[in-house]
Amino acid sequence: MTRARLVVLVSGAGTNLQALIDASKDPQYPADVVAVGSDRPDIEALARAEEAGIPSFVTDVSQFQRRAQWDSSLADHVATFAPDLIVLAGFMKLNGPSFLARFPDRVINTHPALLPSFPGMHGPRDALQHGVTVTGCTIFLVDEGVDTGPIVAQAAVEVMPGDSEEALHMRIKEKERQLLVQTVAKMVTTPYHVVERKVVWS
Ligand code: GRF
Repeated sequence: MTRARLVVLVSGAGTNLQALIDASKDPQYPADVVAVGSDRPDIEALARAEEAGIPSFVTDVSQFQRRAQWDSSLADHVATFAPDLIVLAGFMKLNGPSFLARFPDRVINTHPALLPSFPGMHGPRDALQHGVTVTGCTIFLVDEGVDTGPIVAQAAVEVMPGDSEEALHMRIKEKERQLLVQTVAKMVTTPYHVVERKVVWS
């Protein structure tokens, strides 16, 4: 079996990254994390990459005069590692048109709500404030919008009475990590294409 090459982009704690690293220790898992990229230094996710012996790089937007330059530099870095799939795992920047054009339908993101409900930075908080009784997580193909791309997979999480944002987000993240590991495995082993926003598996 040829294992697929994953580049994971991160900005924070990196527990989703860790789930992929842990999954890839299984010889039956069909993918390896070959590089980790970040938009900022000194984060836990980069320490996780180092601990696992995975090369990492930082492409900091503040080092560039224009956002578009940052975007294409990031794409250049990522392309160096010849990825089959790029996973945004808690990556807090929007990838621009030149990045997405380099890797069509090969960039996924994970969001802690059932899209299209509660997009943006505060999915768990917004779901709680709205009063939903079920929320969850979504893996989607990244397009130029904010959490608007075609949905690849979703999982539901019940809201408990008295839930805090933190408690709810923690339970969502448990589901999210499992869903990410399963979905990445499926995406690198099963051909897919997008028809009218729907991901169709061959
Ligand atoms: C996840 O809930 C992800 O959906 C959101 O930020 C969180 C990242 O968690 N965008 P981690 O850095 O993988 O622990």
